[in-house]
Amino acid sequence: MEKSVCRVSGDALSSLVNFGNMPLGNGFLLPKDFDREYFYKMAVGFSEKSKMFQLIDQPTPEKMFHEEYAFYSSTSIRMAEHFKEFANSIIASEYLQSKDPFVVELGCNDGIMLKNFADKKIKHLGVEPSKNVAKAANEKGVRTCSEFFSAELAHKIVEEDGKADAFLAANVMCHIPNIVDVVEGINILLNDKGIIAFEDPYLGDVIEKVSYDQIYDEHVFLFSAISINNLFSQFDFELIDVIHQPTHGGSMRYVLAKKGVFKIKESVIKLLEKENLQGLDKIETVLKFKENVEHSKGELVTLLKKLKAQHKRIAGYGATSKSTTILNYCDIGPDLIEYISDTTPIKQGKLTPGVHIPVVPYETFKENPPDYAILFAWNHAEEIMAKEKDFMAKGGKWITHVPNVRIL
Ligand code: SAH
Ligand code: TMP
Repeated sequence: MEKSVCRVSGDALSSLVNFGNMPLGNGFLLPKDFDREYFYKMAVGFSEKSKMFQLIDQPTPEKMFHEEYAFYSSTSIRMAEHFKEFANSIIASEYLQSKDPFVVELGCNDGIMLKNFADKKIKHLGVEPSKNVAKAANEKGVRTCSEFFSAELAHKIVEEDGKADAFLAANVMCHIPNIVDVVEGINILLNDKGIIAFEDPYLGDVIEKVSYDQIYDEHVFLFSAISINNLFSQFDFELIDVIHQPTHGGSMRYVLAKKGVFKIKESVIKLLEKENLQGLDKIETVLKFKENVEHSKGELVTLLKKLKAQHKRIAGYGATSKSTTILNYCDIGPDLIEYISDTTPIKQGKLTPGVHIPVVPYETFKENPPDYAILFAWNHAEEIMAKEKDFMAKGGKWITHVPNVRIL
């Protein structure tokens, strides 16, 4: 694909928000790999035709999703609960009427959601190209196919398993550059009354909260109901329900079906009206967002430098892919942040992408807590605050940047 072209409409894209040189969000590495570290220019464009907010350039999917993929979904207990609720709501829904339904999930990762279908002996298939996490799903009794989803793969699935009743995905549709091919694949895969239910970080929240750290290599798109309706209407699908989710700092669950098969819920009409008021279909909104992002950067760097001048110790909490955007865009390195603690074994002992801050096990945070902890995993704030009462009781303070930079 040519750069600077909308991946949905094909019209020209100009770069509206520039974040400079950026490594892979999940590219945690060892010093021996520094000279091979991959960087690309991260910038965002917006198509006035498709209304898609998207990266101008994105590293190839094989660079990001492979047998050493660093993100294991089940590290968060709250997310496991969330996906149990998602699965159960589909199983109980008016949309899944077949006696012997077949459910396909895209990007099932370690089986966090499909496990709930497997446990109930519901026929399922997880399409998961990152082999290490797909293996973890298999070990939980989840059936997987370790490939990138495409129209071609959809034909193969139909040949082997028949048509599907539900197509599910979470935090993956927004990762896929050839999204039109994926929607074509969904069209091939589903039977006439089949439904699509997927959720992704929501553009409306990112704009409102200036949570620009949702922008990184894997998130090639940030969707709105307007852009999703446009995209899926190419294959005669329409939105029938939308449900806002608190996960990942504000997400939207989109439910779609073939036009006219199910009633369009009031939630869809209301959200489309709200998005029009918020200007999610306008380039001016993205330009205002750019100003807010620049302001946020200035505030964060000033605060960290001030604390450092007071000889305060600062550490990060959660070596998230989101933090890669903040650290590299704001040029914050080990001179300001001593370490970042993270519970994911594959990240520990490595250095963060680009700025090379050490990632340490959670025990380091417990044993050697800083004066200030930057909450990079701010989307898990509730879960983290509940278990870090001790840190706060001993005088530890939190820094956040969402929706504005401040000490909590
Ligand atoms: N659904 C999980 C995982 C999200 S991470 C959750 O919400 O926690 C995104 C996952 O999608 C990764 O495991 C990645 O390997 C997978 N993925 C990326 N591109 C894909 C594609 N084209 N088809 C299927 N899965 C894909
Ligand atoms: P995410 O924001 O992409 O879900 O990633 C969260 C990261 O934060 C992941 O690497 C695990 C880490 N983490 C912790 O270290 N401690 C925690 O309590 C939680 C919830 C996450």
